[in-house]
Amino acid sequence: MQKIVLLTGAGISAESGLGTFRDAGGIWSQYDLEEVATPEGFARNPALVHSFYNARRANALDAAPNAAHEALARLERDWPGEVVLITQNVDDLHERAGHNRVIHMHGELTQALCAACGAHWEAPREMFAEDPCPECGEPATRPDIVWFGEMPYDMDLIERHIASASLFASIGTSGQVFPAAGFVMQANAAGAETVELNLEASELSGMFDERHEGPASDVVPQWVEQMLETL
Ligand code: APR
Repeated sequence: MQKIVLLTGAGISAESGLGTFRDAGGIWSQYDLEEVATPEGFARNPALVHSFYNARRANALDAAPNAAHEALARLERDWPGEVVLITQNVDDLHERAGHNRVIHMHGELTQALCAACGAHWEAPREMFAEDPCPECGEPATRPDIVWFGEMPYDMDLIERHIASASLFASIGTSGQVFPAAGFVMQANAAGAETVELNLEASELSGMFDERHEGPASDVVPQWVEQMLETL
């Protein structure tokens, strides 16, 4: 039975009220990513970085999953083959929609990391640079988010999943940030069927076998229904 590998981006959480990055008025038009999403920015001004992520964490915790998150959780539940979800998103809306296997390649707002000893723990709703690490006591806590210039999580695992996918579906991403932007090329090279579901054409649209254009809360449930009807 077909193994399905899913990749999601900020577009799947847009209708839950969480901002995207590169649409008009997006997060990177409001904040300088060099200041809030790089290790150098954190070293320069940890308080600014924590306030940026405290606001995003509060938004994410107060948001609700939408029909697209719920449809993917249904696909994971009802599809007889393996379903693996890789997300670039740092919110936990997939998990709150009931999705079990989620690989957060860019980290998670609900997790904290110690920049001194590497310990991970559940993040409180608000975090501050002077908060002591529960493991080593150092005031070196940071959001457990993969910043530009840092290596995403689980890349070996991700590449193995893509190499063995029968179908690769990319949902709600502009395809402008590597390594995620390279996944469709790897999937095509592995002989997988490739599908893009997005509000509009992305940088990578020409690389997909099939495309569904529209808001995720419309096109994702329709696509999942179509997939389950093939069973
Ligand atoms: N439904 C479906 N797609 C949507 C919707 C929607 N309601 N709204 C926006 N989109 C699409 C946009 O057309 C765009 O192609 O979602 C995509 C969002 O693109 P970006 O804002 O670039 O977000 P993303 O692709 O997830 O960014 C990747 O960049 O800044 C880093 O780490 C950050 O994970 C992020 C990565």
